[in-house]
Amino acid sequence: MDVVTTTSYDSLLSRRAKLEIPSPRLPRSASGANAPAPLYMFGGGFPDPGSFPYQELVEATEEVMQKEGAQALIYGHQLGYQGLRELVCEKTKYYEGFEIAVDNVLITNGSSHALALACDLLVDVGDVVITEAPTFSGTLNTFRRYGPELVGVSMDQEGIRTEELEATLKELARRGRRAKLIYTIVNFQNPAGMTQSLRRRMELLSLAEKYDTMILEDDAYGELRYSGEPVKSLFGLDENGRVLRTGTLSKILAAGVRLGWILAPTALIPKLAQFKTDGGTNPYVSRVATYYLRKHMHEHVEELRAIYRQKRDTMLERLRAGLGDSAEISNPDGGFFIWIRLPEGTNPQKLLSLAAERRISYVPGPYFFPGGDTGFDHIRLAFSWASLDEIRQGTDLLCDAIKAAR
Ligand SMILES: Cc1ncc(COP(=O)(O)O)c(C=O)c1O
Repeated sequence: MDVVTTTSYDSLLSRRAKLEIPSPRLPRSASGANAPAPLYMFGGGFPDPGSFPYQELVEATEEVMQKEGAQALIYGHQLGYQGLRELVCEKTKYYEGFEIAVDNVLITNGSSHALALACDLLVDVGDVVITEAPTFSGTLNTFRRYGPELVGVSMDQEGIRTEELEATLKELARRGRRAKLIYTIVNFQNPAGMTQSLRRRMELLSLAEKYDTMILEDDAYGELRYSGEPVKSLFGLDENGRVLRTGTLSKILAAGVRLGWILAPTALIPKLAQFKTDGGTNPYVSRVATYYLRKHMHEHVEELRAIYRQKRDTMLERLRAGLGDSAEISNPDGGFFIWIRLPEGTNPQKLLSLAAERRISYVPGPYFFPGGDTGFDHIRLAFSWASLDEIRQGTDLLCDAIKAAR
């Protein structure tokens, strides 16, 4: 039963709960609430459901219960399960090639939580936060809850344009202001797909030092590289304690385990941890995930790379065959997404309706821009969830819809 109330909560709500979150003028599906559920799910970045290691997770659960029993079932440490913190260190060494200490690691409820903790640490209402434009819609929504002035900086094939970034930082300084943080998705940027070059990473670090700000490096997909050479992480390159780096098990194990982490200079870990009032993040599942990953991480990541490489290649092939040169199609070296600049003259609203009729979902471009008022000429497709057959059929149908959406 719904509790019907006439109480006005206005005077009770916190300043943050009352923040006016600008709602972008987004295209809406004309088919409305009664539209049939999509068959071709190219919207959210959901991991491939067939890739989940069901049996191995059952075995890991059994092992945890036998070895740790009650330890796994009581409240956990505020910094997270020590075994998982150690695993993050080993994983960083193996995939990123640099050493960190356990004291640099704080375990969180997925990397979304880690990103929110970075805001708790640094962002007051009215502060400036710089993001890439476009950037991940989920983080934009997290940022908006903290009430900053969001400023977007554009990108090219090497990632964030550091010249434009410096001009922005300079202009802020001229007005007696500065950015509290610069948010960047370094590998296979979500949604735009490029990987930030080493040159740009070095420039970004020196700008953070020069303009006395922090960098928030989000690397949700780093292990899922299908082509090209890895570039060293900003956290690994940084010599001045200017970088916070977030990571997650969502993409290499399962989003449902809700486990991620933030790497930070040791001085900042206790400060971040004071915002964790959760009784220890998922002590039980942290152990299951850790036991599983200790045995299987490398081989599982290899399997995932093979699955997603094939999905990426299949979607790209169909898009190129269907759209030719009429659209700009990203070519990411990893991750889950393809970013498309639609052919000149495409009507975004009409496209959304035609896609819904064909039971295709995708995310319209404006969701990824800080102001939500640009990017109508782009869409983001995820190739991670759909099967290969769904990718083939759905992409062909989508190309037809794009050609018809004039
Ligand atoms: C770039 C990026 N960062 C962070 C996240 C958050 O993931 P999670 O909270 O599941 O770790 C996602 C999820 O799609 C993402 O794409």
